[in-house]
Amino acid sequence: MQLLNRVAIVTGAARGIGAATAALLAENGAHVAVSDIDAEVAEAVVQQITAAGGSAANFPCDVSKPAQVEALVAQVVAQWGKLDILVNNAGICPRIPVEEMTEEWFDRITNVNMKSVFFLTRAAAEAMKTNGFGRVVNVSSTGGRVGGVHNATVYSATKAGVLSMTKSLARHYAPFNILINAVAPGAVDTRMFESIPAEGVANYVATVPLKRLAQPVEIAHSILPLCLPTMTWVTGATLDVNGGVVMM
Ligand SMILES: NC(=O)c1ccc[n+]([C@@H]2O[C@H](COP(=O)([O-])OP(=O)(O)OC[C@H]3O[C@@H](n4cnc5c(N)ncnc54)[C@H](O)[C@@H]3O)[C@@H](O)[C@H]2O)c1
Repeated sequence: MQLLNRVAIVTGAARGIGAATAALLAENGAHVAVSDIDAEVAEAVVQQITAAGGSAANFPCDVSKPAQVEALVAQVVAQWGKLDILVNNAGICPRIPVEEMTEEWFDRITNVNMKSVFFLTRAAAEAMKTNGFGRVVNVSSTGGRVGGVHNATVYSATKAGVLSMTKSLARHYAPFNILINAVAPGAVDTRMFESIPAEGVANYVATVPLKRLAQPVEIAHSILPLCLPTMTWVTGATLDVNGGVVMM
């Protein structure tokens, strides 16, 4: 129970990495705001957490809308009195070839994956400042490290942007004891990876030293340490969580 009575927001928490992270933070004693654009599926995650004895509530939000992320922070503070932890996890990765990318999709991918991180972190940090404590974890990708494969050019650029923003915001908020780090997962067995053809998955797995895809809970276990109050001297860092496929 290393996070007893800490208050956390996890975005994109209805499924995949976000759902696993919300459950793990709750297992460790945090009150968890399960936030997603898909409120119905998010409610099932809240029910699972509470059935297991954890504390969670459903806070629907489209992270691409700055007004909604500001309202999200206000609602969470109204419910639990403060905010300690933010996991910027929501993301989309439509597989669109370079030749077929439209301006509308370019903007949508950028807004969901990157603009959201700026505006939600800023709103969260204002709440965290009042307690002089904060932990933010941004979910990037190996694509942000090395560029995209499988028609993920724009996605990977947004994930590189998230890594840069992690460093800038880590510097900016360090004086308030708000520590901001990123994780960069390789391929994880979630809905996001489902659209890759079997042959593409097999080719990828062959390049991974651990010879498999990750499970969402394995990424959650890399996010948890970056949320702990005992993690006091790491900020602006990126933890590569990829089975060894990219070693920086
Ligand atoms: N799956 C992978 O291989 C992989 C690899 C590296 C990084 N990631 C990153 O991990 C994060 C989680 O991805 P996942 O694999 O669990 O995918 P997922 O599709 O299973 O889950 C993503 C969640 O984000 C939500 N979401 C989408 N748009 C949103 C919006 N505008 N506002 C709020 N919520 C929104 C979805 O409803 C969904 O519940 C993403 O940022 C993704 O880029 C995934």
